[in-house]
Amino acid sequence: MKKRLLSSIMCALLVSASIAGCGSSANNTTAEQPKTEIANTETATSAAPKSDSDGKLVVGFAQIGQESGWRDAETMSIQTYAKEHSGEVELKFADAQQKQENQIKAIKSFIEQDVDVIGLAPVVETGWDQVFAEAQDAGIPIVLLDRTADVDDSLYATFIGSDFIEEGKIAAKQMAELIGGKGKIVEIEGTVGASAATDRKTGFDEEIAKNYPDIQIIASQTGDFTRAQGKEVMESFLKSNPDIVGVYCHNDDMALGAIEAIKEAGLKPGKDIVTVSVDGVKGIFEAMVAGEANCTVECNPLLGPLFFETAAKLRKGESVEKWVKSVDGVFTSDVAADVIDSRAY
Ligand code: AHR
Repeated sequence: MKKRLLSSIMCALLVSASIAGCGSSANNTTAEQPKTEIANTETATSAAPKSDSDGKLVVGFAQIGQESGWRDAETMSIQTYAKEHSGEVELKFADAQQKQENQIKAIKSFIEQDVDVIGLAPVVETGWDQVFAEAQDAGIPIVLLDRTADVDDSLYATFIGSDFIEEGKIAAKQMAELIGGKGKIVEIEGTVGASAATDRKTGFDEEIAKNYPDIQIIASQTGDFTRAQGKEVMESFLKSNPDIVGVYCHNDDMALGAIEAIKEAGLKPGKDIVTVSVDGVKGIFEAMVAGEANCTVECNPLLGPLFFETAAKLRKGESVEKWVKSVDGVFTSDVAADVIDSRAY
């Protein structure tokens, strides 16, 4: 990855705005900070600080939407940090309702408002070059949070988030162990074109193809990261495939939907059909405790504190790592009861 140096621009007064709520359903407000590690040693630097009326760090964040419990937890983490540090930071929050065009509009509006830093969880990977270039021309660094964008490295300051390919590989190993290395399985994918879906599929499918010749992925379809679509997709899989032994879902919400479909089909989730999913939300721990789910690969959404700390560094012109990688765990049903009370989201 290349080093980047944004042009130094001293800007006009920042306008003030309040934090816009997004109707999050997550109920955790005292979430722990995510564990992170430095994924590589290359760094990015930002513009010199802009001048503003009260010295607050002004950050615009373009969130994807409210598609999952994981997303709600991420939003809550960002908004809670902003509220708890309202003396130092000001958050302009946009909920794009799963539409890239809305995220692009939000970014353009943040540029017009001359924020210090723009944060974005890109709903899909492609189509960002032009608006990122506009932010760069305005001297505003872009921080990618949780999902990556397929743009030149010079167009964003840093990516903070998990290794989705690795999550897919871990999920494949867990699935293989749970089904004894053989059988027909199905896959419910996340949003088409999202890095979280593309990479979790790549990691899982490649690991299965490479090391488990007796496991067949007989069907794979998107459930758009939502519980409702996870259920619908599993219903259609069950109608045409009577001998499924496992389902891999790119997130826990879709697994929870699939579990409903399996039960309605008269089968036992967690036993007749095993589940492996990604995220680590409270709901999947409850399902594991009830014996209806088998494994979740954690993906930490509590990125708010790190996001703002990174934004503050960028405003000061300090260097930041190009990828600040979350350190995530794996949880199976045999440990679920012991850890469920300590889960922060
Ligand atoms: O980008 C992270 C993914 O997006 C989470 O796994 C999923 O639940 C969310 O919608």
